[in-house]
Amino acid sequence: MSHDERNLAHWNKVAKTYNSDHTQKAFGDLINKAHEFILSNISAIGVEFIEPSSTFERSDDNPSQKSVRVLDYACGPGTITNILAGRATEYIGLDLSPNMVNEYNERFSAQTDGEKLNAQAYNANLLAPAGPPESLNDSKFFDFDLVAVGFGFHHFENLPMVTQRLVQRLKPGGVLMILDFFSHEKDDMGNDPAINTISHHGFSESQIKALFASAGLEDNLVLDFGQDITMKQHAKRRPFMARGKKPA
Ligand SMILES: C[S@@+](CC[C@H](N)C(=O)[O-])C[C@H]1O[C@@H](n2cnc3c(N)ncnc32)[C@H](O)[C@@H]1O
Repeated sequence: MSHDERNLAHWNKVAKTYNSDHTQKAFGDLINKAHEFILSNISAIGVEFIEPSSTFERSDDNPSQKSVRVLDYACGPGTITNILAGRATEYIGLDLSPNMVNEYNERFSAQTDGEKLNAQAYNANLLAPAGPPESLNDSKFFDFDLVAVGFGFHHFENLPMVTQRLVQRLKPGGVLMILDFFSHEKDDMGNDPAINTISHHGFSESQIKALFASAGLEDNLVLDFGQDITMKQHAKRRPFMARGKKPA
């Protein structure tokens, strides 16, 4: 089984319960902590988002409306899209797992407060060793203001290639943001099937900055969440948020 096939099998299996698991204490309440951290540090991302409070002033037939486009890569059930809801005009999710894509599309097909988010996920692997699939040549998969990867980087194998392919999808001046964990011990995860999906046991700040710099990104920044989380009783993790800007 290839690494991608192992990821596909695992994430397809846990897609339905991923969101509820990761908002519980047993999984370190990871999603709620990420939500809080991102919104407290929203200006550090470096994207000129729409003010969520100005939502009522926006309309589909307003040609002067500022466009802010987000690619939520390895989107899962839409963690990053949900955190940034109301701050962009369009969200595209991409994920290797069709079940995760279904979770994303079901979640955002509903209206909240009378508004439906312009969010749609597709099943595709931009990082396929043989190259991105043809379906991703469509113009809607380019020119993003923000490409974000929430807790997906440690599942990817060839990080210089990954970073370069994600940066190709940014518009000039766009931002790559990743949320992941600082370097940690290789835990004894017992029979946990998730162990087969992991390629990297976290990252150092200098590793992330070097990856971003070699993909041509500037103003690279790594922000520490400032608190550990403990997943499944034993796996201690220290999350970070990193961002780098594609030159304008
Ligand atoms: C830990 S989950 C993160 C989900 C979500 N981004 C979040 O922050 O909660 C990892 C996700 O990466 C996806 N994934 C793994 N390898 C991938 C690849 N090569 N391309 C796209 N998605 C991938 C999995 O299907 C899974 O949905």
